Amino acid sequence: MANRFVLNTVSYHGSGAIKEIPGEIRRRGFKKAFVCSDPDLVKFGVTAKVTDLLDEAGIPWSLYSEIKPNPTIKNVQDGVAAFKGSGADMMVAIGGGSSMDTCKAIGTVAENPEFADVRSLEGVADTKAHATFTIAVPTTAGTAAEVTINYVITDPEKVRKFVCVDVNDIPEVAVVDPDMMASMPAGLTAATGMDALTHAIEGYTTRGAWELSDMFHYKAIQLISQNLRDAYAEAKSGQPASGREGMALGQYVAGMGFSNVGLGIDHAMAHTLSAHYDTPHGVACAMLLPIAMEFNKPAVTKRLAEVAVAMGVDTTGMGEDEAADAAIAAVRQLSADVNIPKTCDGLVEGDLDRLADDALADACYPGNPREADHEAVKGLFRKIMA
Ligand SMILES: NC(=O)c1ccc[n+]([C@@H]2O[C@H](COP(=O)([O-])OP(=O)(O)OC[C@H]3O[C@@H](n4cnc5c(N)ncnc54)[C@H](O)[C@@H]3O)[C@@H](O)[C@H]2O)c1
Ligand SMILES: [Fe+2]
Repeated sequence: MANRFVLNTVSYHGSGAIKEIPGEIRRRGFKKAFVCSDPDLVKFGVTAKVTDLLDEAGIPWSLYSEIKPNPTIKNVQDGVAAFKGSGADMMVAIGGGSSMDTCKAIGTVAENPEFADVRSLEGVADTKAHATFTIAVPTTAGTAAEVTINYVITDPEKVRKFVCVDVNDIPEVAVVDPDMMASMPAGLTAATGMDALTHAIEGYTTRGAWELSDMFHYKAIQLISQNLRDAYAEAKSGQPASGREGMALGQYVAGMGFSNVGLGIDHAMAHTLSAHYDTPHGVACAMLLPIAMEFNKPAVTKRLAEVAVAMGVDTTGMGEDEAADAAIAAVRQLSADVNIPKTCDGLVEGDLDRLADDALADACYPGNPREADHEAVKGLFRKIMA
């Protein structure tokens, strides 16, 4: 079977990149923007950094901001109704993964109304039309939803988070401007940055990894390892440094890779934790990352040894096994340096059967390089129990 690769049509990078947005809208002849963002970003003026530019350019826009972290089916359905009533002909997603994913789902349902229930989009949906034209502007350096063919929606009734994979949902234009991420507090910088590292390492060790995806994941592991501590320190001190710029790029490069080859058991388990305990996605990914690497090590020892080198570990004189362990230790050290918690609030033994079932049913699990049975997954969850 041929390997497929899907990326944005156009992407802009670097400080000040958002200034390109009005031109992108005008050149394509669009008349009105539907802006998807979350309430906090609106309150703290992050959304306005872009909408002020639309105002200056005389481009009308309307705002939809009923988006919660770990966005729900209702957030999507209300958004579809708001979009239909807005008279807009394109979308601008401004936010973290939650705003961008909601926007992707709204745009998909708007053009494919037979999927209005949203649940039927889970997995690989047979949509016929591309989502409404979208410019995506990330405000966190983590999910890379601006360049992926995935979005993740929560079903509160069934207490599940489900992944939708669809080449029709990728935003045409991504605008990755580190200035949009400058207001991230330290904890969010750490969590979203570790989400990006998880994408890069899971993507490098996933079943479908191949040369083209390796190229992106290896570079992303380097960029994130070199920049996350600085970005975190910068968020704490308020002093500008180069960490934010490196993280903005590193998370995007990771997205270019994993979107095309998939992830693994860490993301499958992380989605389950967020659905049950509303754990922030990046925190869930980060707590599980060394545990998932240890579990996968027998299947991907050589790959993990390469991860150690990408993370800057001096592996001179080490065998493959020792170098793989050094990669796991380097991940643990990075997590500790940016204060990621080691245990998950709310996680109790009585929930483990359900959690293991849900993780094994998650769309990310089949990408894992080593098979896990129900008891093994319970054992992995137990390692982050308080
Ligand atoms: N589509 C994909 O490929 C993909 C990949 C990974 C994760 N996800 C999904 O993305 C979601 C998580 O996204 P996220 O981690 O980016 O966080 P988020 O979008 O859920 O935002 C978390 C919080 O951070 C705040 N915030 C965002 N940017 C900020 C900024 N610049 N300054 C201050 N506050 C800011 C938001 O207002 C919000 O309260 C999850 O639902 C996850 O499953 C999607
Ligand atoms: Fe993620």
